[in-house]
Amino acid sequence: MTVKIFDTPDVQDFLKTVAGFDQAGGDERAKQIMHRLLSDLYKLIDDFDVTPEEYWSAVSLLNALGHETQFGLLSPGLGFDHYLDMRQDAADAEARRTGGTPRTIEGPLYVAGAPEAEGFARMDDGSDPDAEVMWLTGQVRDVDGTPIAGAKVEVWHCDSKGGYSFFDPTQSEYNLRRTIFTNGEGRYRARSIIPSGYGVPEGAPTDQVLKALGRHGERPAHIHYFVSAPGHQHLTTQINLAGDKYTWDDFAFATREELVVEGKRIEDAAEADRRGLEGVFTEVVFDVELAKTEVAELQTRHARPRAKEDVEDIGSQLAATAKV
Ligand code: DHB
Ligand code: FE
Repeated sequence: MTVKIFDTPDVQDFLKTVAGFDQAGGDERAKQIMHRLLSDLYKLIDDFDVTPEEYWSAVSLLNALGHETQFGLLSPGLGFDHYLDMRQDAADAEARRTGGTPRTIEGPLYVAGAPEAEGFARMDDGSDPDAEVMWLTGQVRDVDGTPIAGAKVEVWHCDSKGGYSFFDPTQSEYNLRRTIFTNGEGRYRARSIIPSGYGVPEGAPTDQVLKALGRHGERPAHIHYFVSAPGHQHLTTQINLAGDKYTWDDFAFATREELVVEGKRIEDAAEADRRGLEGVFTEVVFDVELAKTEVAELQTRHARPRAKEDVEDIGSQLAATAKV
């Protein structure tokens, strides 16, 4: 079949009806966006001569993605998360908000409400005796190099098998998730375990999509951060550990040159003792620079449904966003 009907008045009128243009109710922006989205998809069906079999298998795949709550997993794989970052970077550049540690994607696996600590926290629950001990530390500074005391540093990462607590029911609550407030010198310190890389579940709908593109669903070992302080721009970022097979081949497109950190293996017993550790450990240092801003909306993370996020928080964040 090689019919082309997209540009006919019948189809164009039909699209307007489907998008509710002739209805008084509903939301104007929703109508505009749906009209554009459907137009692009109808045109695609025409241009690629999409068969009914192909169309219905796509519907089935979307159902499977939703059933397994995997849209949040597929989203970074299709580059949407990184694209939103690129847009945010461009908006910062246009507003001359320069400097500071680069942002990169949040990913779908943050959980709100992790235990809070001042200056130091142990993040692992000690249940993984074979895991390599990680000493994670850094200083939070403003763009002039002044340390920021009391900055809020939220850190989360996966275990040595690639699982995140909460999403992996075998782990204890908030394992490898902590909120640490920096000390008087702007420093945070954590004892944890070196995370492994992460892979999307084998055979899952996300994996099927990536395989159809000839791609893999692997991420390098990485550690997520939210960093915030009054008067400064909220930072969502992560570090990728150097030397991982996927450091420069991350399916989620989160790697940025400034965010690749080399862990340093330390075998000196005196160094371990100084940190209250025993035996060999790996030190990972990540200093963070926050840009200044007086705009309240830029000082908090953007609203998004997140596990255990207070619904009232989301409501008030959305209300704040709507006012800008
Ligand atoms: C995904 C998983 C992550 O741990 C992450 O940081 C980003 C994306 C994912 O499964 O899509
Ligand atoms: Fe992650």
